[in-house]
Amino acid sequence: MTTAIVKQSHVGLTGSIRVPGDKSISHRAVMFGAIAEGTTTVEGFLPGEDCLSTISCFQKLGVSIQQEGDKVTINGQGWDGLQEPSDILDVGNSGTTTRLMLGILATRPFHSVIIGDDSIAKRPMARVTDPLREMGSIIDGRDTGNYTPLSIRGGATKGIQYQSKVASAQVKSAILLAGLQSEGSTSVSEPALSRDHTERMLEAYGVHVKREGLTVSVEGGQTLKAQHIVVPGDISSAAFFLVAAAIVPNSMITIQGVGMNPTRSGIVDVLEKMGATMSIQNEKLVGGEPIADITIQTSELQGIEIGGDLIPRLIDEIPVIAVLATQAKGKTIIRDAEELKVKETNRIDTVVSELTKLGASIQATDDGMIIEGRTSLQGAEVSSFGDHRIGMAMAVAGLITDGDVEINRSDAIAVSYPNFFQHIKELQQD
Ligand code: S3P
Repeated sequence: MTTAIVKQSHVGLTGSIRVPGDKSISHRAVMFGAIAEGTTTVEGFLPGEDCLSTISCFQKLGVSIQQEGDKVTINGQGWDGLQEPSDILDVGNSGTTTRLMLGILATRPFHSVIIGDDSIAKRPMARVTDPLREMGSIIDGRDTGNYTPLSIRGGATKGIQYQSKVASAQVKSAILLAGLQSEGSTSVSEPALSRDHTERMLEAYGVHVKREGLTVSVEGGQTLKAQHIVVPGDISSAAFFLVAAAIVPNSMITIQGVGMNPTRSGIVDVLEKMGATMSIQNEKLVGGEPIADITIQTSELQGIEIGGDLIPRLIDEIPVIAVLATQAKGKTIIRDAEELKVKETNRIDTVVSELTKLGASIQATDDGMIIEGRTSLQGAEVSSFGDHRIGMAMAVAGLITDGDVEINRSDAIAVSYPNFFQHIKELQQD
């Protein structure tokens, strides 16, 4: 087990960093390149463990992929270039790999088996396997196909009009990907808008995607054409440093080239609503995705209420928003966030238990949490529980605790941010 020790930062965080590439976009760039015709090149790819799992799964499916740091080349040979794997497809810790790959395999006329780590084995897959079965794919697994290991035999599928109960980009993407090679048209409607990277990137790969409000549809029989994809910085990774700079005294940092897709930028809205002093510069569009530089400094913060349609726009940022809320005056209420229970860990439980150890006044609710600020936090021994975002949220808290925070299972951070601790050091030295 790897343990990281984070000490209170006696200096402010200053300077400028570029966070690693967006995880959601990196996965999609590789998967779509694998089913596209021709050679796709990717720059700014996130070489984190999750995205490396995607590469290794598609290599096992017969696709030639070369990766070196943040550069990837994928020699796609179209949908039919995928071949029956002779080995199990191991997704590691990655829910995105599991669910999106299921959508791709749903229409492929061969058999494959998907496994992952202990955390993946607890994450619900029926939300994807049910609609894919409805389309005609044969899928089985533990608990009749709700949990890994899963086996899948794709085949002649028919389009569906699917009403999803959850605002989930993974569900939406899996069904749309299957729809591209199914008979007729396929549509997915969701209760609130989830991240739309699939829609944007499919369009970049030459696919016709129709969007009307909360419904996205595609026609069957569509192929993808190879592309050059530039991946923006991950706003979900930037969030840890935005929060750190807002709460560590004497800080002022700039994060360059951060993805500002409106379906992902809820953290910026929250910081603004809480009263953070920040500014956004150099806004531009890269490969269909908006990016910008964000500058933020130590700020006086107020507690706020976070719920409704804002939740899918910041779902992955809630662990670090909870840390932020401990330093805001008054109550912060997070509601409508039941989805936290089925992430890499049950993030309502893990955030509340670990922040309580640091002395936060935080209480779990059925659909979120309530945090009372402002509290001075103390050092303690905590765990990531194998969840990268819990590990990083604890490290950010450790920068302001009186006494050290010892983070067990800190190796999990490499899932999405391999150079996280290096970036903390750099900002402490500027
Ligand atoms: C992701 C979608 C979200 C998010 C996850 C990445 C994606 O999950 O939490 O980290 O890349 O599509 P859901 O689709 O389950 O909401």
